[in-house]
Amino acid sequence: MPVLNGKELRIVGFLCNWCSYGGADTAGVGRFAQPTDLRIIRVPCSGRIDPLFVAKTLLNGADGVLVSGCHPGDCHYSQGNFYARRRLEALKQFLPALGIDPARFEYTWVSASEGQRWQKVVKGFTERIHVLGAAPRYEQIEMSAVPPAPSNGTGPSAALPSFPESGEYDPYLQELKEALKAGLPDLDLIIGWQQGYDPLHHTPLFMHTPEDVDKLVWGPLNVHNLATYLPSLKNKKVGIVVKGCDSRSVVELLQEKLIEREKLMIFSMPCTGVVDLSKVGRLLEAKGASPARAEAAAFSGGNLTVTVDGKEYLLPMAEAAADKCLSCRYPNAVIADRLIGKCIAPVEPANGQGSGLPVPDVSELMEKMAFWRYHMDRCIRCYACRNACPLCVCRDHCIAQSRDPHWVSQEDTATEKLMFQVIHALHLAGRCTECGECQRACPMGIPLLELKRHMNKVIQELFEYRAGIDPEAVPPLLSFQAEEKNIEERG
Ligand code: FES
Repeated sequence: MPVLNGKELRIVGFLCNWCSYGGADTAGVGRFAQPTDLRIIRVPCSGRIDPLFVAKTLLNGADGVLVSGCHPGDCHYSQGNFYARRRLEALKQFLPALGIDPARFEYTWVSASEGQRWQKVVKGFTERIHVLGAAPRYEQIEMSAVPPAPSNGTGPSAALPSFPESGEYDPYLQELKEALKAGLPDLDLIIGWQQGYDPLHHTPLFMHTPEDVDKLVWGPLNVHNLATYLPSLKNKKVGIVVKGCDSRSVVELLQEKLIEREKLMIFSMPCTGVVDLSKVGRLLEAKGASPARAEAAAFSGGNLTVTVDGKEYLLPMAEAAADKCLSCRYPNAVIADRLIGKCIAPVEPANGQGSGLPVPDVSELMEKMAFWRYHMDRCIRCYACRNACPLCVCRDHCIAQSRDPHWVSQEDTATEKLMFQVIHALHLAGRCTECGECQRACPMGIPLLELKRHMNKVIQELFEYRAGIDPEAVPPLLSFQAEEKNIEERG
């Protein structure tokens, strides 16, 4: 059959060997005419299809991707397509966050005897892609036409939540130090925070002696998620001081058996939010003060007071807090051996933000593409985002640097750099606890948490699951249901 509209588009099909490839064969034998745009890649089972295959195909210039496997219940390997259905649906709903039209990707089920159905599927999908036209490429986006959205949620429309007016840490901090000193003899070390190289920075503290414990600090400058260190200390008996959001990372590591509960002692105090130091810098500069000249920082009554050149500057936490704290649901640790202080209520989200996860408006796909083109052009590939992520645990074998398989080239393009972020987001699907370390660590201020938040929202809506809450829970992408409640059956 001639191509539609006289112009062939690039459509890639991933077909399971046992059913859909047989169905395509049956269609050919039966001489059912089909458009010629589709290029077929045969795979053993739809369960073999990593969503990254689809993402890379779309990012590298395909106008459409079609996945087809055996009907649910008919998989040659009994369950492959059940797992595939969950992953592929999550991917489909994630694509708008990248600026890719989800209509360019479809997955369906065709059996080996359904030659006519295969013809119908291919014709329908090809016609859809021809209506959409050739897919836009990140490198071709006209930057001047679409201004990038503001990063870090500090745009003029960012509404401010109300923060708890807590901040009287001192009596509880002393109690926490006593608890740490009492636990130290049974542990190899305890990880916490200490005063850093200037008043605005707290840095990780590795405590081995009671004198080390005396250096412990607590407050909104404790920005690091210390759970990042735990997998590398797996063979030691470790104590860790955690904020509420950090405790979710600990739960996730326990759930994935990357650390052992018997070798871990968790200490915590309720958290009233941490600052985003880039916001603090901007707020100070707006008042004519240089953050580099800060002489002291103190926190009380929901405000951060910074002294610069002998003058005090009051910064409300609602303006200086990290984005993740603006809608935090977990100010108290979800798991702890010693919880010091009084539990506090979650942050009250501002009007319009809702109580869930604010995600970018993805209705304007071209704007979203321009947004990522702009930010990825700035990426310097330092991998600080990966290194700071507590759940990016295969960094010694990271596929970003692997040549076999060769997922990401060293080409300096927005597409290649975005591909790495897509890999990161998809590897964290159902695992990310939104600690925000990727975004905090990025020296270029790229709003990387947006991708993870969008994926988390998808996972939550599809599978009613939040990562880092229950150490015994089965992650949604490692399980399935024969009848999925929230997934509309394809065909
Ligand atoms: Fe066809 Fe598993 S063998 S989907």
